[in-house]
Amino acid sequence: MKNPFIGPHPLPKNTPIFGRNREITELRHLLIAERIVLLYSPSGAGKSSLVNAGIIPEFANTFDVWEPTRVNTPAQDNATNPYVQSAIAGWKKPANKPI
Ligand SMILES: Nc1ncnc2c1ncn2[C@@H]1O[C@H](COP(=O)(O)OP(=O)(O)OP(=O)(O)O)[C@@H](O)[C@H]1O
Ligand SMILES: [Mg+2]
Repeated sequence: MKNPFIGPHPLPKNTPIFGRNREITELRHLLIAERIVLLYSPSGAGKSSLVNAGIIPEFANTFDVWEPTRVNTPAQDNATNPYVQSAIAGWKKPANKPI
């Protein structure tokens, strides 16, 4: 039998997620109503897993969902906004193409 414990990695897309139905519904409603939502919690609480396994598969049926990206790459000298530049660079990576 495959070991169901994946270790300290976020649950990936399209894997089952348990015990988060209320959070998935709440986040779905917030995203649709507000468009921009800040999700915060202590490290390890399950944010990435909630987004990957709970939100992205549900939204992919209706919306053009882009992969998560990060705003942590070093800024280039000519960047007017290093955070936007980093986010765009993340989406340009082949593995991170919009799904
Ligand atoms: N619903 C769940 N059921 C069981 N395990 C879960 C669940 N959600 C997350 N986990 C597990 O908890 C751990 C932390 O999850 P995750 O990486 O998603 O947290 P995080 O809030 O994004 O953390 P960080 O702030 O450090 O990025 C991972 O090992 C993940 O597999
Ligand atoms: Mg995370």
